[in-house]
Amino acid sequence: MKDGGGRQFGPLGTALVIIPTYNEAENIKSIVARVRASVPEAHVLVADDNSPDGTGKLADELAAADDQVRVLHRQGKEGLGAAYLAGFRWGLEHGYGVLVEMDADGSHQPEELPRLLTALKGADLVLGSRWVPGGRVVNWPRSREFLSRGGSTYSRLLLDVPIRDVTGGFRAFRRETLEGLGLADVSSQGYCFQVDLARRAVKAGCHVVEVPITFVERELGDSKMSRDIVVEALWRVTAWGVGERVGRVIGRKRR
Ligand code: GDD
Ligand code: MN
Repeated sequence: MKDGGGRQFGPLGTALVIIPTYNEAENIKSIVARVRASVPEAHVLVADDNSPDGTGKLADELAAADDQVRVLHRQGKEGLGAAYLAGFRWGLEHGYGVLVEMDADGSHQPEELPRLLTALKGADLVLGSRWVPGGRVVNWPRSREFLSRGGSTYSRLLLDVPIRDVTGGFRAFRRETLEGLGLADVSSQGYCFQVDLARRAVKAGCHVVEVPITFVERELGDSKMSRDIVVEALWRVTAWGVGERVGRVIGRKRR
């Protein structure tokens, strides 16, 4: 995978929209319906961590009625990262050309998917971005915006990744991009999974494009953001940054 100038971007193939869920019973039906309406040719994979509120069962009902919808049932809550890794593995095994990450709660608007997929025609990875011109956030408390902007800035500076929204979770990958990221040794569990994949893509020389999105805070259900997730992100990002700097100083080539 070369940089944007060196690569001829081929055709995309079928897209799989992966939606991780933990207690999203109030959201799952409408989000899947909106994806199906917005990108009718795409397939949907719900990756549910055995949600106590029955999200997995509702997803099964959707899948029974629509053969472009599938469900990956996982044993228990293992974090966003693990759910996406399982979803990516399933999608790559089943031959999809594009793998999309999207939240279940309506924060990522399915109606913006065509713009992400169009941009992927000239990119290896497209990030839906809140923090580029034209991007915005609706209904977030000040504290949450501060945390997200701060986390993104900290990651960008420490990891040297020229990306404004490093923590966002509305993304489209070409399959070749994912295959080049070394997913087998990703161990990030929470939202820092997103930072991990972004930094791996930059290091692999991928052409990464940010497309502005409007992120709408969920109206139903609860965020799974927790202190543990913030702490994991902080120590991992710091460790990656320090590790790379030390590696550079002692002249070793690392990724
Ligand atoms: N399967 C599974 N397992 N799904 C999970 C888990 C888990 O352990 N934790 C969260 N999810 C799902 C949620 O059900 C939802 O569909 C999606 O992941 C995002 O979770 P939210 O809890 O709604 O995230 P948020 O709104 O606080 O955070 C948003 O901002 C983060 C930081 O910018 C998301 O866009 C994240 O992707 C983003 O990293
Ligand atoms: Mn959310």
